Amino acid sequence: MLFLIGLGLCDLTDITVKGLEIVKRCDHIYLEHYTSVLYNVSDNMEQLEKFYGKKVILADREMVESEADKILDDSVNSDAAFLVVGDPLGATTHTDLILRAIQRNIKYKIIHNASIMNAVGCCGLQLYNFGETVSIPLWTDTWKPNSFMEKIISNKSRGLHTLCLLDIKVKEKSLEAMMKGKLVYEPPRFMTASQAASQIVDCFKMESNTIGVTGDSNIEHSFSPNSFCIGLARVGSDDQTIIRCKLSEMVDKDLGKPLHSLVIEGNLHPLEEDMLKLYTAE
Ligand SMILES: C[S@@+](CC[C@H](N)C(=O)[O-])C[C@H]1O[C@@H](n2cnc3c(N)ncnc32)[C@H](O)[C@@H]1O
Repeated sequence: MLFLIGLGLCDLTDITVKGLEIVKRCDHIYLEHYTSVLYNVSDNMEQLEKFYGKKVILADREMVESEADKILDDSVNSDAAFLVVGDPLGATTHTDLILRAIQRNIKYKIIHNASIMNAVGCCGLQLYNFGETVSIPLWTDTWKPNSFMEKIISNKSRGLHTLCLLDIKVKEKSLEAMMKGKLVYEPPRFMTASQAASQIVDCFKMESNTIGVTGDSNIEHSFSPNSFCIGLARVGSDDQTIIRCKLSEMVDKDLGKPLHSLVIEGNLHPLEEDMLKLYTAE
């Protein structure tokens, strides 16, 4: 059987009792290691293996995409656990693995856990008032996609908040080394709320005919660098940090260690306003 088990957002102990009992019974344990990481834990395999009392295999994107059959093979006559930080179906859905399991008549079970998709409610905004979630990619000097702007504007024009999930680069191949015929991996990088705000502000600075900023010119919206946003870091940990300020000010805020998310506010309900006072920067 294949178990897809959510680990929750931060610590080893965020796994559910049900999830932990299954992990302890499983013969093969894979930790999905590219869509999210357990704060302070994912790169400490020894700690993880000691906690589960089992050997854990790090499953990076390459492995999950190209060697999914290996995980499924392990689920045929024995039990395999595929551990996912957050919820296995939160934000990133691992439906491909599930569909492949169904194709091969392999039984599967999902053990849910908290996801950033619901834990974002800690900032005081009501989950019902969020529109489409967007992903913001880390720009390079030559690659600056801005399609997330259209979605934020569309949400904002309907008074809805936007949860922006921020890019994670784990086990990226170094282009420079590849050009020299070597396989070297870059150190992991995690986009910060400040970097995300800075990219959004840059979108406004780009030429006014940039489609991403104006989107459909018929849409009325009030999105600008003066719009309020909320930076969230390490949600669920003891040192969770939440700061609310204008986008242009978020550019200079340091929220500390990863992971970070950014929320662009829509219209506020009075209760949301009261909650946000707790986090509004002076
Ligand atoms: C693909 S999504 C998360 C998927 C995960 N399965 C879940 O359900 O939460 C990864 C992004 O979510 C955000 N994120 C995840 N955990 C977070 C946390 N504890 N605090 C702040 N942001 C977090 C970050 O922007 C991160 O890059």
